[in-house]
Amino acid sequence: PIKSVRGYSVWDSRGRPTVEVEIELQNGALGRAIAPAGASTGSGEAVDLRDGGLRFGGHGVGKAVASVNTEIAGQLVGMDAANQASIDKALIELDGTANKGRLGGNALIATSMAVAHAGAAAAGKPLWMWLSEGGDPMLPVPEIQIFGGGAHASGQMDLQDFMAVPHGASSFREATEWVAEVYRAAGDYMDSIGKRAGVADEGGYWPLFDSNEQAIEALVHSIKNAGFTPGTDIGVSLDIAATQMYRDGGYFLKREGRALSPDEWFDQLASWMEAYPILMIEDPFVEGDYDNHARFTAKFGDRAQIIGDDLLVTNTANIAAAAEKQACNTLLCKPNQAGTLSEAKAAHEAARTLGWGTVVSARSGETEDVTIAHLALGWGITQFKVGSFSRSERMAKWNEMLRLEQALGADARYAGRRPFERLS
Ligand code: PGA
Ligand code: ZN
Repeated sequence: PIKSVRGYSVWDSRGRPTVEVEIELQNGALGRAIAPAGASTGSGEAVDLRDGGLRFGGHGVGKAVASVNTEIAGQLVGMDAANQASIDKALIELDGTANKGRLGGNALIATSMAVAHAGAAAAGKPLWMWLSEGGDPMLPVPEIQIFGGGAHASGQMDLQDFMAVPHGASSFREATEWVAEVYRAAGDYMDSIGKRAGVADEGGYWPLFDSNEQAIEALVHSIKNAGFTPGTDIGVSLDIAATQMYRDGGYFLKREGRALSPDEWFDQLASWMEAYPILMIEDPFVEGDYDNHARFTAKFGDRAQIIGDDLLVTNTANIAAAAEKQACNTLLCKPNQAGTLSEAKAAHEAARTLGWGTVVSARSGETEDVTIAHLALGWGITQFKVGSFSRSERMAKWNEMLRLEQALGADARYAGRRPFERLS
């Protein structure tokens, strides 16, 4: 049983406060986890409880920490940490709101993850194995950001993530080696054209391009320069994060000074789909626009994963609504959008039942917490998105996955092309 639940604040990768929770069991086992935080959040996400006011730009987590130390601790002490489902249910009921805003999504997810860690520690198992329901573990295909834009780079580029997907590699280790070369090639290329200017929130190069297209071109160019064949060895993935660009019923490309109607935007995206080896594309239209998502999925869903992030917010009801309209074919699974591990897992299971893919994803505000690496392996999620190939809050996750691959030894299998088997 749980002996104590303690919350306190630590700092995330943007230098903002966030919630860490430490759980101790009566047998001395410890679990600890930290909540991440998004910047381009979907409106249906579990909301973080923030203090507001002037201190830390309003991002303080004093109230969320208090939720943990008072109500949440009061509820959880004495409960069985091995029963994640009943603990998560208790958390949801205790909060009592639809968006988890009373106690805070940040308080709830840190607690939920810390419970899992404590359970694993008590069982003497690595977390992924504790979460696994059997079956052969499979190392996920990473989606690694090369250029960062959107809300993660002060709107310097309209699109948010320009990513490399090394699905042709033969192991997770090799996948990271390939992308390390692409990342380096991209840096050299940025130097050569005089456009290197540091990195964005998730570690991708800060874009000083003149257009979105130039960034996609630069990504394809860097894949080639590193010695790989775009599309065959390494696919291109874009997170459009279109909700961020939506103004007055259309899409505003700030960088290019262009305002597009939804139809014009559809055609713009379609022309990129035709011109580049795009294997994955996330949030191509504003959240809630099921019709354009469905039209886009009908046209491109057989050749690319159409991923719902803001569209789905890791929520089973939204997944059902999107499935009904055939608005996408892949779930971006962010545990803190759901608020508890059980709800995130349910979202993944709903996606799997539909025959969709799932990508487990970090947030733009992260820490050294590596829980999601274990969720991917333990839950059998074959794709993994945690940002770029720099900044230690990103590298910590890639490195944890390498450790897991190493520990599996001869049993380690890399998902490689499997997540894309349904595509032509
Ligand atoms: P966020 O960005 O964590 O700022 O929401 C990640 C994403 O959009 O995938
Ligand atoms: Zn996204």
